[in-house]
Amino acid sequence: MPASGFIVLILVLLVTCEAEPATEFVEASDGGSASLPCNLNPPGTSDKISVVLWYKGAEQNPIYKYDVRGNQPVRWAEASLQNRYFLRILDDHRAIMSISPTKLSDEEVYHCKVDFMKSSTMITHKALNLTLNS
Ligand SMILES: *[C@@H]1O[C@H](CO)[C@@H](O)[C@H](O)[C@H]1NC(C)=O
Repeated sequence: MPASGFIVLILVLLVTCEAEPATEFVEASDGGSASLPCNLNPPGTSDKISVVLWYKGAEQNPIYKYDVRGNQPVRWAEASLQNRYFLRILDDHRAIMSISPTKLSDEEVYHCKVDFMKSSTMITHKALNLTLNS
């Protein structure tokens, strides 16, 4: 292969890798607060969220649930999180999981899943790798 072809191949590989990272990185300071974003955009235009679930690491069960199927939003968090995790709904499109104060045990890969009122598809979003700096 000519050298120029080889360089083009490498560039294509680099661009492909950057366009689709397996996980996104989120940094925060140890003992401070961390913000993990979750996209609430529905698959259809007029749909609304019903449940937002957060998963941590390899745990099978969600560590946090936000449920708006009733009149009032219901939040549930796994007891081991010690009430340090709170999901804030910013608008129809975005939510932020805030962790405060952070602990080293929070360093993990997280992802959110969003379920909607009308559409039966549950959207699983890209994983977020939280790193804490001391
Ligand atoms: C998360 O980030 C840490 C620190 O950069 C890294 O060691 C670890 O492999 C990452 N995990 C995943 C699943 O990407």
